[in-house]
Amino acid sequence: MNQFPKYLLLLILSSLYNTSINALYEAERDALYALKHTFNDPFINDNWNGLHCYGNASFWDGVRCVNGRVTAMILESRGLSATISVDAFVSLSELVTLSFKNNSLFGKIMDFSSNPKLRDIDLSKNMFDGPIPRSLLSLEFLQSLQLQDNQLIGPIPEFNQKRLTVFNVSNNKITGPIPGTGSLQLFSAALYSGNGPNASSGDSKKSVPTMLIVFDIIGLVTVILLLILYCKKSRELNKLIERYRLGEEDDEILEMGGVSYNYKESKEESREEIREESISHVHHVGVSTFAANEEEKGNLVFMGDEDAGFDLNDLLRASAEGLGKGLFGNSYKAKLEGRPAVVVKRLRDLKPLSDEEFTKLIRIIADQKHPNLLPLIAYYCTNDEKLFLYRFAKNGNLFNRIHGGRGTKDRIPMRWNSRLAIARGVARAMEYLHLNFNFSTCCVPHGNLKLSNVLLHEDDTVLVSDYGLASLVAIPIAAQRLVAYKSPEFQSSKRVSPKSDVWSYGCLLLELLTGRLSAHSAPPGINGVDLCSWVHRAVREEWTAEIFDMEISVQRNAAPGMLKLLQVAIRCCEKVPEKRPEMTEIVREIDSIKAVDSEELSDSADQSLTDESFSTTASTVLVVGDGRSW
Ligand SMILES: *[C@@H]1O[C@H](CO)[C@@H](O)[C@H](O)[C@H]1NC(C)=O
Ligand SMILES: *[C@@H]1O[C@H](CO)[C@@H](O)[C@H](O)[C@H]1NC(C)=O
Ligand SMILES: *[C@@H]1O[C@H](CO)[C@@H](O)[C@H](O)[C@H]1NC(C)=O
Ligand SMILES: *[C@@H]1O[C@H](CO)[C@@H](O)[C@H](O)[C@H]1NC(C)=O
Repeated sequence: MNQFPKYLLLLILSSLYNTSINALYEAERDALYALKHTFNDPFINDNWNGLHCYGNASFWDGVRCVNGRVTAMILESRGLSATISVDAFVSLSELVTLSFKNNSLFGKIMDFSSNPKLRDIDLSKNMFDGPIPRSLLSLEFLQSLQLQDNQLIGPIPEFNQKRLTVFNVSNNKITGPIPGTGSLQLFSAALYSGNGPNASSGDSKKSVPTMLIVFDIIGLVTVILLLILYCKKSRELNKLIERYRLGEEDDEILEMGGVSYNYKESKEESREEIREESISHVHHVGVSTFAANEEEKGNLVFMGDEDAGFDLNDLLRASAEGLGKGLFGNSYKAKLEGRPAVVVKRLRDLKPLSDEEFTKLIRIIADQKHPNLLPLIAYYCTNDEKLFLYRFAKNGNLFNRIHGGRGTKDRIPMRWNSRLAIARGVARAMEYLHLNFNFSTCCVPHGNLKLSNVLLHEDDTVLVSDYGLASLVAIPIAAQRLVAYKSPEFQSSKRVSPKSDVWSYGCLLLELLTGRLSAHSAPPGINGVDLCSWVHRAVREEWTAEIFDMEISVQRNAAPGMLKLLQVAIRCCEKVPEKRPEMTEIVREIDSIKAVDSEELSDSADQSLTDESFSTTASTVLVVGDGRSW
């Protein structure tokens, strides 16, 4: 009985999900997860969850990233006690710096033949035994190798890297002579001291005081450089946190959340006088820059009863704050005196539309009124300029809420009840859009559902934004930029439908449940994971507990609801559109999931959620579920 579901699961999963995966990002994450299991350290267990790298920012303690890849791992004096697998680092091909200094790691030193960029290795003050691996000889860029105070045995390999300037193997059990290579003969025999017979008896003629001074200076310079690098890194992190705090609007802010280089490189924006290099790229420009052409000054058209009591002139006088560059143009937050702030979205790359067509499409968008949809307050339209005015959502967007500030003190964990409420709010908004969908405008009701288009207003009310914009852009542009066009059906048959929104919703749920960055909603240049494939793999390989973001997986009493929501998500991600449920059905199912009474947490050191019983429950629920053939 126990074997059957797993086998079935494997069969179903392998036949259904073969979409491409960002292999490198995934492999690195898996390697980090394996290390996390090896260390089994309470702090790391707690901290190494969710997104690990995001551009140059890392959310995991001790890990550093560049362009989404791990470049450094620094875990010093943590009291870590474990045997690291020899091949633990094979996937981390961008690794430059590694330090496990002053822990209690034992066993053989890892194989570094797949880490050609390694520059600094510090494994000192541990209990490593076995020989110094010869894979170290292939590291062309190696500058610093510190293996002192371990239990290493055997001879010293013939290191001869030109850049090697820091080398210490003292206080080990190394035997044999010091090789006569140019690189090694430069070092003072003192660095080999405290070893077995002969290793310390190296060439004493060369260990003259001048040599020591030279190396002191090199050491000092290295320390200073590292210090500068460190300060720079922490500044970068602060910047990022700052941005997350400011993070507010739809996709625009994504660009601020890490890929600011796009923003800076964009030449066409120069006319908007983006001068300020302030940390958050928030710049103050008069909104008057919008209405470049005085003669052709149109008017703000307010939608329905939403007459907010201001006009174009008020808007032009308002102080505006750039929120960033988005897929459809820039957004600004305009502060009107004595009124709530509004967001001005400046649209570009629209398909050619006559005034009537444009107005008609806007009417359709504006007529969508639901408590979980961000209302369009007004628009402005001339030949040169098209602006949409929206309400400003105070609590930012869901992307920043889920991924922002991980691993920092500023992070407020996002618990199950909030996530469930968001899943429900988004589902209701989508149901509404689907029920009121007018096929004459376009083929897909929302078209661009992703975390950054889910905004949180006061009390964390969900407001879905960006709906209907798919009808305003030409297909080639839509195909490049909108989430619905990343669905399996568009890849295979170049068609999207309302079910493409259901797929996007499923991906959004998976991101909400796992806390992992999804490939389809990741900002440009940032690697995400194909979450549909990933989740199936995770279940198959029985690390089910890792599926859920640690911030919710510690809520033991929420587990049944989490599994149920996971099941809904997986059905929404079905490769065949017809097999995905309707939004109405989804709303009904989510409504039946209960919030938990208390936000009671299990002890973080308690691994109850990672044990067998949980995995078994997960695969059973996923397979048996309600008997559907997903
Ligand atoms: C080594 O690590 C321990 C904690 O594991 C710490 O108490 C000690 O101060 C560290 N020693 C050095 C020299 O950093
Ligand atoms: C090399 O390691 C030993 C043992 O920890 C230490 O005493 C010595 O100062 C180190 N030498 C250098 C140059 O770092
Ligand atoms: C020391 O090394 C030399 C070769 O450099 C070797 O001939 C000699 O036997 C070694 N002595 C000991 C005590 O190991
Ligand atoms: C990340 O860092 C690399 C090198 O340090 C740099 O080339 C790249 O532009 C940085 N990316 C971002 C988003 O800052």
